[in-house]
Amino acid sequence: MSRVNVAVLGATGIVGQTFLWLLARHDWFTPVYLAGSGTRREKIYGNVTPWRLPVEMPESIRDQPLHALDLDECVDSGARIIFSALPSSVAADVEPALKKKGLAVFSNAGAMRHAPDVPILIPEVNPEALDHIHEQGYPDGGFIVTNANCSTTGLAVALAPLREFGIKELFISTCQSISGAGYPGVPSLDISDSAIPFIPGEEEKIASELREILGIDAAIFSTCVRIPVRYGHLATVWVRFDGPVGREDILEVWRGFRSEAVTPTTPPHPIIYCDEDSRPRPDMSFFGDPPGMPVFTGRLREREGLIGFVLLVNNLVKGAAGGSVQNAEFFLQKAGDGS
Ligand SMILES: NC(=O)c1ccc[n+]([C@@H]2O[C@H](COP(=O)([O-])OP(=O)(O)OC[C@H]3O[C@@H](n4cnc5c(N)ncnc54)[C@H](OP(=O)(O)O)[C@@H]3O)[C@@H](O)[C@H]2O)c1
Repeated sequence: MSRVNVAVLGATGIVGQTFLWLLARHDWFTPVYLAGSGTRREKIYGNVTPWRLPVEMPESIRDQPLHALDLDECVDSGARIIFSALPSSVAADVEPALKKKGLAVFSNAGAMRHAPDVPILIPEVNPEALDHIHEQGYPDGGFIVTNANCSTTGLAVALAPLREFGIKELFISTCQSISGAGYPGVPSLDISDSAIPFIPGEEEKIASELREILGIDAAIFSTCVRIPVRYGHLATVWVRFDGPVGREDILEVWRGFRSEAVTPTTPPHPIIYCDEDSRPRPDMSFFGDPPGMPVFTGRLREREGLIGFVLLVNNLVKGAAGGSVQNAEFFLQKAGDGS
């Protein structure tokens, strides 16, 4: 495949940084346009970006120009694919405008997630959702494809192969890292040595997005808590199925779960089960192949007719930038097939 020029909007934010870390070593994509809000005086990416990932800033992007987001400049840059890590309020105008200009937009923002023709795509879970881009006018025009909310993504991957048992009720509690709130994000005085038992909008997003992505009609009860760790969202889940399901049934379908989509960023094993009772945990967020892309599960148990487990998703990689890169790869692969 010949390389494809891409733009990263919101490039200085924590998700934008994750995009650039992934794209700098990607064989298909070349970042040609990096944009922030334009409020920074200096215009060299490496000089102004508060790099907060646990990996070094790639040399190839350090000296790249940082633009104040301008739609015409973005189009003129020659980018064919737009990776958006914009705040939702900004994305609500920018993403449809870029779509109108004929571009393929892969977004992390929640703004367009509930437009009826905009898919929330996780290739391992609902690859068929990509077909919605035809309702948006593709191939004659541009389109928008979104990621799920970061916690929802991990939950959807772990639950996808369990759909065959009939998911009736879900009881979910999340412990979400501070990077999930962006940078600088949550004030340190609110979160140091503490936890915040409410994340606005998160519980509703988990319920509505899970139902849409998994195509289920289950009752979903969730509680979302912000905890003082840097990366990785942990969730505890209890599931009631339509009929009796045992621990071994779950392990078997998790072990056999593979993605229909085979792309460079798609993990060969999307779900990795941890046998140790002390795992998974947030300090493993960047583990896996590719790093940060698999969902880790553990502590699988049966109680009173319910199945319980713990899961970990990397909110910045699988739950955000990595998920978008994977979606763009999946689109290019399907477009190459003529679909
Ligand atoms: N963090 C996560 O784990 C996560 C996971 C999934 C989805 N998301 C979603 O991804 C998006 C980005 O999140 P984040 O955590 O990376 O946020 P962030 O760290 O606050 O970064 C926001 C980015 O948007 C840019 N920006 C702000 N206002 C702008 C404007 N008017 N025009 C152009 N650019 C503007 C900022 O540029 P400046 O630096 O110049 O201000 C910065 O690059 C959000 O929609 C969020 O909901 C985040």
